[in-house]
Amino acid sequence: MDLNVVTLGNEVLREKAKEVETFDQALEDTVRQMFVLMREKKGVGLAAPQVGISRRFFVTEAADDKPRVFINPEIIETSQETVKGEEGCLSLPGVWADVVRPYSVRVQAQDLTGKIFHLNAEGWLARIILHENDHLNGLLFVDRLPQNVKNKVISKYEKMSHN
Ligand code: NI
Repeated sequence: MDLNVVTLGNEVLREKAKEVETFDQALEDTVRQMFVLMREKKGVGLAAPQVGISRRFFVTEAADDKPRVFINPEIIETSQETVKGEEGCLSLPGVWADVVRPYSVRVQAQDLTGKIFHLNAEGWLARIILHENDHLNGLLFVDRLPQNVKNKVISKYEKMSHN
């Protein structure tokens, strides 16, 4: 199976992804390929819907952090404190915008064997986790922007991608 990143306009990006029920070799292979693809494209996170798979899992690899896999993640808690930070997305290549998000997050997820783990993350990693988790619910980072900013970013993206 050769995976590719799908971009804005592909319906799978707007679907609510389904739970992962089977923790098998196929899942492990998909995750491995997602890491390859993410690194190739110089991304720091990649969610299954972005490779056309409407299932609840994503991978992250922030600078100074280890590669991480989150399967069936649940956001348990987010901080009241928010912070603005620049985000891009492999599904909207070439555009970036400042997005306001909670500063820290507590997430529960399963690993590749199905074992549940918890993680407290803050700053950049928290931002990546929240961005990727949004993908599982059909949300893109531009949906978190004020409408006028969102329109500008999308029209810039469309101009670029139609060249
Ligand atoms: Ni993204």
